[in-house]
Amino acid sequence: MKIEECRSDFPITRDLIYLDSAATSLTPKPVVEAMAEYDLRYRSNVGRGVHRLAAVATHRYRDAHDAIKSFIGGDGGTLTVTRNTTEAIGMVAAGLAWQKGDRVVTTLLEHHSNLLPWLRLRERGVAVDIVRPEADGHLDLADLEAAVRDETRLVAVTHASNVLGTILPVRDIAGICRDRGARLLIDGAQSAPHIPVDVAAIRCDYFCFSGHKMLGPTGTGGLWMREPDLEPLFVGGGSIESATAEGYTLAPGEERYEAGTPPIAGTIGLGRAAAYLREIGMETVRRHEERLAARLIDGLAALDRVTVAGQDAGADRIGVVSFTVEGMHPHEVAQVLDEASAVLVRSGHHCCQPLMEHLDLPNGTVRASTYIYTTDEEVETMIATVEELSRRAI
Ligand SMILES: Cc1ncc(COP(=O)(O)O)c(C=O)c1O
Repeated sequence: MKIEECRSDFPITRDLIYLDSAATSLTPKPVVEAMAEYDLRYRSNVGRGVHRLAAVATHRYRDAHDAIKSFIGGDGGTLTVTRNTTEAIGMVAAGLAWQKGDRVVTTLLEHHSNLLPWLRLRERGVAVDIVRPEADGHLDLADLEAAVRDETRLVAVTHASNVLGTILPVRDIAGICRDRGARLLIDGAQSAPHIPVDVAAIRCDYFCFSGHKMLGPTGTGGLWMREPDLEPLFVGGGSIESATAEGYTLAPGEERYEAGTPPIAGTIGLGRAAAYLREIGMETVRRHEERLAARLIDGLAALDRVTVAGQDAGADRIGVVSFTVEGMHPHEVAQVLDEASAVLVRSGHHCCQPLMEHLDLPNGTVRASTYIYTTDEEVETMIATVEELSRRAI
């Protein structure tokens, strides 16, 4: 499928200019249809019954599971479908056997979901070292390397910033972690939807992502583990090999993380979303968004009273562009964009308050984020509307 041909699968784009995909992407018809097909044609529980519907549902569910795993290059590891990235990161924070004196290294670029779980571990005697990026969002690897010590158990970094769009050199970070014997968790909420991801090549230990940001249904995400070395959060039906009145043996594979009925329709929808993105090709997705982001940055940066946050258009980035308009609160800008041109953007702190403080942006930013259905015309409308409102500002 060609990227230019996908737009008709997203009916919402007929009436609105949706530039808020970093929060939640739109969902194409084939994903909705795949979920409806499950509910209407073969709805049943999975991994339990032997009747015909159970067999079809189990087969389709496992296929979807494999498609999601394969999409991030994770065939050799273990994937569990979660509700979102936040839950996936929380499972790592709760599932590792922490000892007093352990350390976690993270950065100030992180979304609250990849910061707060580590701060909470302080209550258990775990120290947290936070590496600060430069003013343009660039993270100096030497700073990160210096922060990783013998006691560092885990390094937890974002793959791509949801505020500045910066892509982090995760393969280099994985090398640092290997040298120091630390594990690496990658928050892939903004990378899995937008750039090719190969967790085996990166050589990370945990990769967390959100299905609802990559064309899948809300309430889906994933935690990929190189080794199934986390203590499961829950135990119960579906997650054991055997049980007696005295105790139980957990299932050896992915099932150990799937206590209770999993999100079957959601997983089938997310599997279809992964297949849809694969049909377009993630390299194509990346190039499309790089081009749109470069135009957004150039167009906005050229306007008086508009300041673009972060690195310039040439940097390694996803289609996320943050900016401020002098004399206007980001929420006001977002409201005017909606009212004047049906342009929908996010405004505020983007769940990154410590980063905003670091960048001296107390009210946050306006954030435009693109995806496969975003067109050049939409980007031009957005720039023209900001130009108009920036003339009226002050
Ligand atoms: C980088 C990053 N990490 C984590 C999250 C949290 O994702 P979710 O709300 O799906 O758990 C987001 C969501 O915006 C994000 O952008």
